[in-house]
Amino acid sequence: MNILHIDASASDAATSHTRRLSRELVDRLKAANPDATVAYRDVVANPLPHVDMTIRQAWTPENSADPLLVETIGRSKALVEELKAADVVVVGSPMYNFTVPSTLKAWIDHVLIAGQTFSYTAEGPRGLLSGKAYLVLSSGGIYSQGPFAANDHLSTYLQAIFRFLGINDIEVIRAEGVAYGPDQDQVAMASAAEKIEVLSVAA
Ligand SMILES: Cc1cc2nc3c(=O)[nH]c(=O)nc-3n(C[C@H](O)[C@H](O)[C@H](O)COP(=O)(O)O)c2cc1C
Repeated sequence: MNILHIDASASDAATSHTRRLSRELVDRLKAANPDATVAYRDVVANPLPHVDMTIRQAWTPENSADPLLVETIGRSKALVEELKAADVVVVGSPMYNFTVPSTLKAWIDHVLIAGQTFSYTAEGPRGLLSGKAYLVLSSGGIYSQGPFAANDHLSTYLQAIFRFLGINDIEVIRAEGVAYGPDQDQVAMASAAEKIEVLSVAA
């Protein structure tokens, strides 16, 4: 099992809900699969640049030897290869303004490459990847149900991205309502930790 573990919280390991929970999940997956390898990508500690057109040009075969594009293609290829090599992707992502942090969006923009991770066919787009994704999410409010559910552009968006890539086996783990006070924070973390325990036994 090759695990790609991505963290996107701007908070540090001591305070971040998603960093703590995604680490817990990866540790449990490793314990259940002692031969598992883990590639770790922290898109906050090592931020990726916003994409510009050089990324498209770099992936065009006739441009691949252009020295000006070598850095772009090197970075992009490494990210794509890292994702392709993963059987399991664990994403720790807080909700920022109803969706993913821009640091994680930058990673998404670097790895959704036509011809590499998905392709266009006469029938429409087709994902070229397979495997499993665990989305470990946290938000100040509650979006899985109730009056703010329509504002959830985090779990819906990330699920759409992984399905688009061909990764249809997706588990969503949420610590929600952490801004509603220490009691709800504790309940949310306990419930997410419980789900992680159940899922990692089944993995
Ligand atoms: C820049 C920023 C934007 C946020 N936007 C939202 C939001 O739209 N909805 C929400 O419920 N919580 C929002 N929050 C709260 C975080 O989602 C919440 O604190 C979450 O637990 C952070 O995850 P972390 O502890 O792993 O960093 C925001 C926090 C920050 C720093």
